[in-house]
Amino acid sequence: MFGLFKKKKIAPEFNFSGIGTDMHSHIIPGIDDGAQNVKDALMLARKFKTLGFKKLIATPHIMADYFRNTPDTINRGLDTLRKGLLDAEIDLEVDAAAEYYLDETLEKKIRQKEVLTFGNNYLLFELSYINAPQSLIDFIKMMQDAGYKPVLAHPERYPYYYHSFESYHQIRETGCLLQMNSIALLGYYGSGAKKVAEEMAENHMVDFLGSDMHHLKHAAALEDSLSTPLMQQLLTQHQLNNVFL
Ligand SMILES: [Fe+2]
Repeated sequence: MFGLFKKKKIAPEFNFSGIGTDMHSHIIPGIDDGAQNVKDALMLARKFKTLGFKKLIATPHIMADYFRNTPDTINRGLDTLRKGLLDAEIDLEVDAAAEYYLDETLEKKIRQKEVLTFGNNYLLFELSYINAPQSLIDFIKMMQDAGYKPVLAHPERYPYYYHSFESYHQIRETGCLLQMNSIALLGYYGSGAKKVAEEMAENHMVDFLGSDMHHLKHAAALEDSLSTPLMQQLLTQHQLNNVFL
C-alpha cells in the first residue's frame, strides 16, 4: 500500500541543455550494437530531447573484426535516421562521425584520410578493454601529424590504467582530449571506472562528456547521472568542449 504514496519521479532541476550537444552515441539504426531499427532510434532520440540535448553527433563503431562500417554505411544510416526524425516530427539535429577502434586497420585509414571526424577535426577513438595498446603515445602523434585532433573515448573504462592515474595525465599532455561517459559517475561500469571518472572530473580532465547511448537502459542511467554532485559540477563549472559543437 505504501506504493500508493511513493513520490512520482520528478524531472531533474537541470539537464544537459547547458552543453546542448552529445558527441558519442550509437543511435544510427542497424549498423552496430546500438539502435537496431528506426523505432529504437526514435525512442532514444526522444529521450535525448527530454534530457535537454539539441544536437547529436552519432558515432557508430568501426572495427576490423565486428563492425566493418565505412563512411558510406554511416552516411546512409544517417540519412535513414534523419528521415525517421522528420517523419516522427522530432526536432533534433543529427550529424555523424564514428568511434574508431584502435586496431591494425586504423593507421591506414588515418594516413589515407578516410576517417569521419566531428567539430574541429576531432577523431574519436577507443581502445581494447582487455589489453593495453603497445604505443599509444606514438599513435596519438601519428593522428596529430595527419592533421587530426584525437579524442580518447571513455578513458575510465580501461582497467589496465586503473593502477596509475598518471597514465591519464600523460595521454592528455600529448594534446589528446579525453571524453568521459556520463554514466560512469553512477557506477554503471563498475567501481573502478567510477573512481577514475570521479578523479578525472575532480582534476578538470574531462574535455568532452558523452552518453555512449546504445539503448534505453543507458538513457535511464544518463538521467540518473544528473543527480550526482560531480555531474552538477561538470555541467555548471567546467569548460566542456561539447558547447562548441
Ligand atoms: Fe561507444
